[in-house]
Formats: sequence, structure tokens, C-alpha cells
Amino acid sequence: STTRYYDFKLQNNTITKLCQTRNIITVNGLFPGPTIYAQEGDRVIVRVTNAMQYNASIHWHGVRQHFSGWFDGPAYITQCPIQPGHSFTYEFTLYQQKGTLFWHAHISWLRATVNGAIVIYPQSGVPYPYTFPYEEHVLILGEWWNADPEVLEKQILSSGGPPNVSDAYLINGHPGPLYNCSSQDTFVINAVPGKTYLLRIINAALNIEHFFGIANHNLMVVAVDGEYVKQFQTRAISIAPGQTTEVLVTIDKSCNGNYYMGIGPYMFANVSINSVPSLAILSCSSPSSAPSSIIPKPKLPGRNDTQFIRKYVRSLRSLSIADNAEPVPQTVDKSLIYAVGLNLNACPTNQSCGAPNNTKFEASINNVTFQRPPLAMLQAFYFGKNGSFTPNFPDTPLHPYDFTGNPPSNLQSFLGTKADVIKFNSNVQIVLQGTSLVSKENHPIHLHGFSFYVVGYGTGNFQPSDSTAFNLADPPLMNTVGVPAGGWVAIRFKANNPGVWFMHCHLEIHTSWGLATALVVKNGEKHDEILPRPPADLPPC
Ligand code: C2O
Repeated sequence: STTRYYDFKLQNNTITKLCQTRNIITVNGLFPGPTIYAQEGDRVIVRVTNAMQYNASIHWHGVRQHFSGWFDGPAYITQCPIQPGHSFTYEFTLYQQKGTLFWHAHISWLRATVNGAIVIYPQSGVPYPYTFPYEEHVLILGEWWNADPEVLEKQILSSGGPPNVSDAYLINGHPGPLYNCSSQDTFVINAVPGKTYLLRIINAALNIEHFFGIANHNLMVVAVDGEYVKQFQTRAISIAPGQTTEVLVTIDKSCNGNYYMGIGPYMFANVSINSVPSLAILSCSSPSSAPSSIIPKPKLPGRNDTQFIRKYVRSLRSLSIADNAEPVPQTVDKSLIYAVGLNLNACPTNQSCGAPNNTKFEASINNVTFQRPPLAMLQAFYFGKNGSFTPNFPDTPLHPYDFTGNPPSNLQSFLGTKADVIKFNSNVQIVLQGTSLVSKENHPIHLHGFSFYVVGYGTGNFQPSDSTAFNLADPPLMNTVGVPAGGWVAIRFKANNPGVWFMHCHLEIHTSWGLATALVVKNGEKHDEILPRPPADLPPC
């Protein structure tokens, strides 16, 4: 194995999109940021220097940080932020993992412009379980605001109201021809007819789940969240913020013009959304041939096509209980039920708030609205300090629940920084139950530090008897799973990685509203079951 060194400099750059010029924060002047290329088993060392005005931290999304939890990155969870003018060096091993992952800033809304791909190839000589592609491309789906996202987040939180709609959806930083001033600001892949391409698709958008498709082509799904799945064909994929999907596409033999690839939103609560889907071009035209005037667009499922999503997620099956993955836990040592969703909380007196009936939007898990601690939780845990969190997160919802009928009159939650504490090596099951108290939404829940098996899905309320139908044979291994709108999802994993692991909705506004918690996994007893000491340059609080 090799060591890969990267230097990331967070800095201001001027960029023009949609006819407006503004300053954005980038890594090394690139938007999206640089791709990290490595092989399974490699050591990755990234020196991050903060040469801009905001606090920063970087998270390596999907990297399991095996016994390296100090380098996971979420601000106030595993580290305090890197302050302007300072740097911190992240160091970790890509232990038993490969595929497509990504990195992003993990503090306030900085990840809107601070994100990039991580591509991990198999070790030399280890074949792909599919046709070797002729070429591969990374497609990062993003979201663009004409305003500074850092400022927007503060405005939304102080108004208590819903977030502004973003001004464009992006593919590799480009809005595509349907947006104002953007006909040249369109991403293009040049393709050869008859050849097979691997697309590594990453949803780095802040707040939008998407469908993706290519006109006149089917997609063969081969991996999600960096783990192989049994291949299946589909006309479109669904991909939530925090998820990655690898697809193969074989270019039509008779292709001699352009086809559009495109993304369109799923379940955006704001019906007044005026954004059009973003398009990119798959081009087979030889430079000499004139591009045809009418370019076919992909047919994507509709904005409310929950049926499509249900069918799609059920076709995700792990390829095999592969070589190096942990087996599916057949028994459970620690069983948790987490009710996730939005709340309408009291508006501070003497203020007027933007949610219905002068309330403010917040979000919670088991009625606890996550409050950012003053001291990073991992430091508090490691050094036994008080004042960061309390180890009393409720294992089940506080009240007996029925999330199918009329919402209860009390939609409130309570601020707190609480964590569930888990014994090393226990088999954990978490049922994520959507509360649908305020609206029926899909919540892409991401867990740091682990990949988990998605063993069951259902609509309505989870019942203990539902577990008899769990798939314990070939469930997909993921790091971000959609809790279905008006339903639940069950996940299992072995808690074999000590540390403090953030778990939150990857719709960034929901995390801002408090839809987050952390799992504390204790050290084991053997000498190799203990989290090492923190690095000397860990940013102080
Ligand atoms: Cu990709 Cu905690 O996030």
C-alpha cells in the first residue's frame, strides 16, 4: 500500500454563475474540489489549511475511520474547528474499503461549495465484479445559491421559517442550459458509441434528493455508498444527499449526436419551487458533425414518485457477503428505536417566527433537538470531561407513538446534547421511524464511522413483528439511508470502532434544525481495541 499526500487550502475565489459574480469558499480554487484517488488499504494524509474567514473542518464521508476517529471531522463532535489562519492534518487508512465516497466541509453550510470526490480502486490484481469500463467519470450533484450559504443558514435559523429555495442544481459545478446565462455552463462527457462507461455519482447537494437519468439509455447499478450491489438495470436512479451510486452505461451503437443527462428533485416540500432540472450532455458527435438541434432529455420519475423510490430501494442487494465486510449481524445486543422528524417549537417571546402559527421549525430524534456542545464530544469522552454531553439519550421514543393518524397536538422537542453509549463489539439495531409530524418527508440518515446493513423497510409504524421479515441474507451495506416518507427503515451493524460517531439527516437544513445525535462506542478490553491518543495538532476549542 501507498501513502497519498494532499494539500487542501480553503480560500476565497470569485466565481460567476447565472450571470452573478460572487465570492465562494473553495479548496485550492476548485469547485467542486479536488478528487482524492487511492487504492484500498492506502494511507491518506491531507493537510488542511484554513486561509479564509470562517471556521472549518473536513469530513471524509463514508470512510470508516477504523480506530482513527480523531480524523473523522464533524465540528464539535470529533474535533473543534480549524480556525482561520490555522491548519490540521488528517491521517487515515482506507481499511477494507473501496469504491466511490466523498469529502465535504462539516460545519454550518460550508459544504455547499467545499466538497469533492474520493475514488478508491481495488488493490492491484483484484478484479471488478463487472465489465471493466472503457472510461470513468465522477458526477457530483450540487446546489447553488446566489447568496452566501453561511449567511443564509444564520438567516433561516433566526427567522424560524423554512429555507430559501436554491437558485440552481449543479452537475460538476455546472447548472446546464435551462438556467439563465448557462448554455455554456454545461458539463459535457464525450462518449464513443458502443463503449461502456462507469459513472461515479455523488449527491453533495445540501437539501435535495434527486433522480438521475440519461436520455435513451438504461443504467446498470453496480455499487452504492462504495459497496458492490447485485447489478440491476433501471431507467433512473434515486440518490439522496450523502449517497453515492456507481452505474455502468453502454453508449447506444448508433449514437451520433448529443443526449442529455439530467437530475430532477424528489419530494421538495416547497411546491413553489421554480428551479428546472439541471442537464449535462453526453456527446457522441465527432467534432466535425453539426450537433443536432433537438436533444432528447431523460424521462425522470415525478417529484412525488414515492412508488419509484420504494421499488428502487428494494432492488438494492449486496453482491455477496464479500471478502472483507463484516457479516450481517444475525442477533442483536442493543436495540434502539429513533423517531426522526421535524417539530414546531415555541417562538421566543417578543419575536415573530416563520413557521405555521408563529412557531419555529426545529427537528429532533426521540424529541431531542441536538444542540452543538461547547467542547468536542470525542475529547470529552476520551478525557472524561463533563460539560459536553450526557450519556442518557432515550433508546426509544419518549411517548407511545402513532405516526400514521393525525399528528398529536404537541409537536415540541427539547434542546439537548445527549448520546447513546454502546459497548464495544455489540450488534446494534436501529429502527429509524419517520414521525411525519410536520410533513411527510424522506430523511437521508447518515452514520459516521460504520457502514450498516439495511435489513428492512416499511410504511406506517414499525411493529416488533416486522422484524420477522428482515432481510438478513443479502441486505445492502450503506452509510446513508432514506427513512421513507411516512415509514421506517431498520439498520444493523457491529459496533467494532470506538469513538463518538455523529448520526444525522444529510439534508443540511434538518441538521441545522437539530435532527442529529451521536453514538458513543466504548473501547474494548484488549490492547488493540482501544482508540489511540489524539494527534498533537488537534484544534483546541
Ligand atoms: Cu456527509 Cu456528517 O456527513
